[in-house]
Amino acid sequence: MIRSKIAGIGHYVPEKIVTNDDLSKVMETSDEWIQERTGIQERRYGQKHKETTTTMGAEAAKIAIERAGISKEDVDFIIFATLSPDYYFPGCGVLLQRELGITKTEIGALDVRNQCSGFVYGLSVADQFIRSGMYKNILLVGAEMHSMGLDYSTRGRNVTVIFGDGAGAVLLQPTEAENRGVLTTHLHSDGTYAEKLAFLSPGAHGGYHADQQGEDIEYGFPNSDTYGGMFITDHMMENGQLYPNMEGQFVFKMAVQKFPEVIMEALSATNLSKEDIDVFVPHQANLRISQFVQKRLGLRDDQVWNNIQKYGNTTAASIPIALSEAWEAGVVKDGSLVCLAAFGSGFTWGSALIRW
Ligand code: ACO
Repeated sequence: MIRSKIAGIGHYVPEKIVTNDDLSKVMETSDEWIQERTGIQERRYGQKHKETTTTMGAEAAKIAIERAGISKEDVDFIIFATLSPDYYFPGCGVLLQRELGITKTEIGALDVRNQCSGFVYGLSVADQFIRSGMYKNILLVGAEMHSMGLDYSTRGRNVTVIFGDGAGAVLLQPTEAENRGVLTTHLHSDGTYAEKLAFLSPGAHGGYHADQQGEDIEYGFPNSDTYGGMFITDHMMENGQLYPNMEGQFVFKMAVQKFPEVIMEALSATNLSKEDIDVFVPHQANLRISQFVQKRLGLRDDQVWNNIQKYGNTTAASIPIALSEAWEAGVVKDGSLVCLAAFGSGFTWGSALIRW
């Protein structure tokens, strides 16, 4: 039976460290508030004009490719997950291909837009391509340059303090080794709550969804019948609508429900139990969420890899960065049963079990 295995893994985080105290110099917040609610002590910000979601993804990808022992020309498919792409379109997949200097191979490049669960979604897609025999060296990247699109005024403090920049990558290959590799993946979504954690504008929505939801939101659209002036308006700029928004408590409540559910689903699909998990690598949304899930799973601290304290929430990059660190530290090793789980905007959520 063919399964996919992670043959190489790597991560990259930018050098610049931004502490909670640094943020409290530009907005009304405090180290105490941020640490108490989220566990975050500091995060990394990419270098303006020099680094992007793509370039950080490429740095992580180079390490994953090298550790897999292949050359970059051997990569036969790219999957790139991010919510902070360099361009609205085209996506980061093709930019990564160019950045790595492998455009001549003309391989396919797919962009995944599933925010915090983007890496798990990407892993599931890659796994299916490998199981079907279609590809043999898939490069899966999760990367974010959040720092470019956040509101640094006090208005945006509930969101801005959470996010950080970075990238992680894996190189997936087929394996026929018994009971090894990606054992199962599970994906879910519920669009009912699409706007609870969202970056709405600029966009092509034209106010439709707000109307449908009975929400009275002023976007400043022109009254005329022309299409111009719909995508981005002065009103949006003046009223801070060009930033992510989040109903934090609502997201929190859904996350602590969906994380355990989707993990139990993966365990049940593989006839495994909570006790079989060696390492749990949760999406780093909030330390309190990870701790809650850890408790539900009955795992010891040394079985859970959390790094949100150092990097904040790096969304699509958070699982591959954490997994890469856990592997480098020798916590994830040959034969380990690794559980990945994520929940985020959409809402979308998912899980994966990997026998390393
Ligand atoms: N510094 C100081 N005060 C703040 C800050 C800040 N950075 N942000 C919000 N506040 C204030 C609010 O203005 C509010 O003040 P008020 O009571 O005077 O109105 C008060 O703190 C409480 O605000 P809440 O938003 O209710 O704070 P909460 O306790 O819910 O914590 C948080 C906010 C940390 C975002 C929390 O809801 C959370 O973690 N939710 C989960 C969402 C999450 O993890 N999102 C990450 C991205 S999505 C994902 O990956 C799952």
